[in-house]
Amino acid sequence: MKGIKIVTIGGGSSYTPELVEGLIKRYETLPVRELWLVDIPKGKEKLEIVGALARRMVEKAGVPMEIHLTCDRREALKDADFVTTQIRVGFLAARAKDERIPLKYGVIGQETNGPGGLFKALRTIPVILDICRDIEQLCPNAWLINFSNPAGLITEAVLRYSPIRKAVGLCNLPIGMRMNVARLLEVNADRIHIDFAGLNHMVFGLNIYLDGKEVTDRVLDLIASGEAGDTVKNIPDFQWEQDFIKALGILPCPYHRYYYQTKQMLDEQLKDYKRNVTRAEVVQQLEKELFELYRDPHLNIKPPQLEKRGGAYYSDAACSLIDSIYNDKKDIQTVNVRNNGAISGIPADSAVEINCVITKDGPRPISVGELPVPVQGLVQQIKSFERTAAEAAVTGDYHKALLAMAINPLVPSDAAAKQMLDEMLEAHKGYLPQFKGLQSANA
Ligand code: G6P
Repeated sequence: MKGIKIVTIGGGSSYTPELVEGLIKRYETLPVRELWLVDIPKGKEKLEIVGALARRMVEKAGVPMEIHLTCDRREALKDADFVTTQIRVGFLAARAKDERIPLKYGVIGQETNGPGGLFKALRTIPVILDICRDIEQLCPNAWLINFSNPAGLITEAVLRYSPIRKAVGLCNLPIGMRMNVARLLEVNADRIHIDFAGLNHMVFGLNIYLDGKEVTDRVLDLIASGEAGDTVKNIPDFQWEQDFIKALGILPCPYHRYYYQTKQMLDEQLKDYKRNVTRAEVVQQLEKELFELYRDPHLNIKPPQLEKRGGAYYSDAACSLIDSIYNDKKDIQTVNVRNNGAISGIPADSAVEINCVITKDGPRPISVGELPVPVQGLVQQIKSFERTAAEAAVTGDYHKALLAMAINPLVPSDAAAKQMLDEMLEAHKGYLPQFKGLQSANA
């Protein structure tokens, strides 16, 4: 039997040991024969450190999985079965700019929301679309599984602007939310089921079940009374206003704090900003520590310190998805796919994050109809932002980018949008070739 070939682009990421661990755990049902870790020449040193750790992990586990390391993406992609993308265009230095520049204007600085999310998308989408073109030529039957952020917006661009049809966007957040609910109820996560629907980092748990019995109100009561944290490592765990969370009646995701607790979140970010720290710098330090550990020739497992990253456990999402596609499991997982009418009010060709039945032919979204009226508007507004941002990323059209910035709910005015856009276009110009030579309308 041929065995599976997986190619991971951005393989030098500190998250890669998670993926390797997940593949080792599932080896019996998911016999991966070749794992190709690909990075750009600037990331070669990290690639080699992570690659060596991956080889030690595989050797310790005694599974016959070959680990290949390369900076030649096209060489790696040939005849791949699954391609995963986990890239950060501009590295953490670019993330620091995405977080800092908006704060100068009194606006939330975050890598997947608001102006930061827009610029991360503008930098990442052209690279992902290039990868899609390579996939089309070199491994047209492969599934593309993207974790690169902003994952929803990247999926939106891939679905609308690439020839690839076998594409799925993935995030660790739904799994993290399920684990938090399990912690709240003091039960194992496999007893919890949540009906998720919305967009990436804008997803809601519409109904929550414990052993098949609905417990939504019980969970919301626990959250309202501040029983336990319900967030991820990169987002402050502010208490929700009790009456609000009960009135909402559905489970928000941690990123909703940027929209429903904007002032508090901004004040918190400004405190750090004044101390000259943003999440990018915290992560830079964490990465330094992780790579020190990874270098140790005696380390042959995923170190627990990796759990300090916001994306912890993403491999569970990734490996379960690959496993279910490969084995036609028909189980339910939450992924980013083409809406196809599953959520009314969102265009059919747009990406949504929603529970899907995972088959060998890909995820089949489970229709939820209309979202509850109180959240419909925000979700649609973010989708308008995402569609406009994706178009700006593909065309390099200044006015489209300005529109995307101005309609984002975290941006307070058209004038602030323009100022931030101009400053961020300049700050990131090395990674925005599609905007080259373009000036603002007033310049
Ligand atoms: C969350 C999100 C991920 C994101 C991560 C950032 O878990 O779901 O999409 O990548 O946080 O974590 P970091 O440790 O880089 O701040």
